[in-house]
Amino acid sequence: MNINYFSDTETMSQKAAENVLEEIRQNPKSLLCTATGSSPKKLYQNLAQHAKLFEKTRIIPLDEWIGLSTPEGSCHAYIEEYVLNPLQIPVAHYFGFNADALHLEQECNRIQELLKREGPIDICILGLGKNGHLGFNEPAEELQAHCHIANLAAQSQEHNMIGSSSLKPTKGLTLGMQDILAAKKIILLVSGEGKELAKEQLLSGTITTDCPATWLWKHDNTECLILN
Ligand code: GLP
Repeated sequence: MNINYFSDTETMSQKAAENVLEEIRQNPKSLLCTATGSSPKKLYQNLAQHAKLFEKTRIIPLDEWIGLSTPEGSCHAYIEEYVLNPLQIPVAHYFGFNADALHLEQECNRIQELLKREGPIDICILGLGKNGHLGFNEPAEELQAHCHIANLAAQSQEHNMIGSSSLKPTKGLTLGMQDILAAKKIILLVSGEGKELAKEQLLSGTITTDCPATWLWKHDNTECLILN
């Protein structure tokens, strides 16, 4: 893992955007996995200045809340606002998750089939959860390899993204750890309050299921950008 520290969000986001653009220039058809949350917002805003490069790029979400009462606050709404619209991604190039599906297990299977067909992910943009999660791969005795329905840790249920929903989700749909680690390039953005412990665990270099992000040490092409 290549680690770089930044003193402001703009410089960190510009650097992350450069990393993404370098890959997109080499492979415009890249499959780009887009995390939500506050960490990558400015990165996406930087990418929007180069929308033309993304004509052929394909987008897959990292995760989605299950059981929101309104579409606002969903990962889909976020991706629409920060990725699909500004980058003018054609509908056919977006592989969204349906968290309202009647049979969520089947939805997971569908996503897994989709990854088999369209994957592996070329560039995976990640944020660090306060408890060290990646997507909704929560700390556990055993991590899940593929797309699954995750029981959200209490800390994850408090994420500010879902503020507008009267129903607080207790579950989420997420790509699994193996799906993430199969990505050719990973960009992990570490910013925001309350992440000291997760950051410390990550930087210790000890791989543990207590902090899923530490598994990124097993990946040989990860850029970790940390806001100090
Ligand atoms: C959320 C999402 C993740 C996101 C992470 C960090 O729970 N499930 O996909 O990357 O937490 O969010 P933030 O960047 O807002 O701190």
